[in-house]
Amino acid sequence: MITNIGTIFLQKLEGKEVALRGWVHRHRISGNMVFAVIRDPTGVMQVTVKKDKVSEKDWKDANDAYVESSLTIIGVVKKDERAPGGYEIQATGFTLISRGEPFPIAKDLSEEYLLDIRHLWVRSQKMTAIMKARHHIVNYLREFLDEKEGFYEIAPPIITKSGCEGGSTLFEMNYFGEKAYLTQSSQMYAEVFVFALGKVYVLAPSFRAEKSRTVRHLAEYWHLEPEMAFYDQKMNMELQEAMVHYVVDSMVKGHSELLKACGRDPEDLKKVTLPFERMPYKKAIDRVNELGGKMEYGQDFGADEEALLTKELDKPMFVYGYPKAIKAFYMKEDPANPELVLNNDLLAPKGHGEIIGGSERIWHYDELIARMKEQGLDKSMKDYQWYVDLRRYGSVPHSGFGLGVERFVKWILDLDHIRDAIPFPRTITRCYP
Ligand code: 4AD
Ligand code: MG
Repeated sequence: MITNIGTIFLQKLEGKEVALRGWVHRHRISGNMVFAVIRDPTGVMQVTVKKDKVSEKDWKDANDAYVESSLTIIGVVKKDERAPGGYEIQATGFTLISRGEPFPIAKDLSEEYLLDIRHLWVRSQKMTAIMKARHHIVNYLREFLDEKEGFYEIAPPIITKSGCEGGSTLFEMNYFGEKAYLTQSSQMYAEVFVFALGKVYVLAPSFRAEKSRTVRHLAEYWHLEPEMAFYDQKMNMELQEAMVHYVVDSMVKGHSELLKACGRDPEDLKKVTLPFERMPYKKAIDRVNELGGKMEYGQDFGADEEALLTKELDKPMFVYGYPKAIKAFYMKEDPANPELVLNNDLLAPKGHGEIIGGSERIWHYDELIARMKEQGLDKSMKDYQWYVDLRRYGSVPHSGFGLGVERFVKWILDLDHIRDAIPFPRTITRCYP
């Protein structure tokens, strides 16, 4: 019976004959024995090949195998306390599908080299675990929005004329002789659809020409952007914390072994309980300064300041109500304080920093035009006409937010660097492979 490694462990197939297809993970020859560790998408398994238990051809294949050669094996499952997982297979057949060449990855290679051969490195145990975890995290995000909250997913364009988050990080492109951009955010298109579908989200790549090299900036990242009609900023924040909690809780309940394999202790994530703390911008500035940082009112938090703010936390914290001057043109003014906007960032604990940015949107025509003038956007008004138009025909209050999927994965899995949260990271110095 063709099976896989996960099934052998799960169904405790001791004493059964099994066939496996996989790849060589480790390989060692010792006299009349070959010791191999085989991997497949479900796990790793120790295999022993004895010369007198297999055909001559299979014995040759077992000796010739390289790390990452692909193969089929047949054998009997035996209990072995010393083997990883407590079982090993004693082979009766060992056939190479493709011997290939000596694999270029051994121990102690530099990060840069591993990024150069990323197309091979994604087979590693570490990357495999991270990619599985990412899959589950994204599934739970969708599950929350689709099934618990009744959202519709929509499909906006990636090529656009309207920048959303300021000119400095726009990737410009030649669109049949005209200037266009890779989208920085699908928010403005998501806003279009709240007038038709009520609650919508986009899960798509966003692009930022980030000039800085940091552990949390990508030039291309996956962006989850929910947008909701008739939501004020208070409801917006409640939705964010409920979503984050749902995903973390589901990961802990359903995938604690996988979390451990990624290097995250699930016990840490059990401390992510509702509600999250809400801290006004001004208080967050004071807190940073108390903790030894140096900030003035009116500045935005950088990575160091966010690390100070979140160092002692066990769960994410909202910082809300930023000065209008440092935030995007579409954020609604706080009626209680016209210097501030109705917005929030959500900062993940222990230095992981901003994972979400959200706000209530300006929904009155005159207010939006005035703010766009203040921010100098009136010069390119023709590229925003469609967005402004939304305020002319049955406008309603609405809010939304954007979650950076890789930032979220980085925090949940406690990764050191955002590049490991995505198979092929795009950064200022890298666009290959
Ligand atoms: O705070 P940002 O710039 O907000 C927006 O784009 C809004 N239009 C979202 C909305 O309201 N629909 O980006 C949102 C999130 C950040 O909190 C961060 O998690 C992630 O996107 N992000 C990045 N992730 C990786 N690399 C980058 N360069 C990122 N820039 C933003
Ligand atoms: Mg932000």
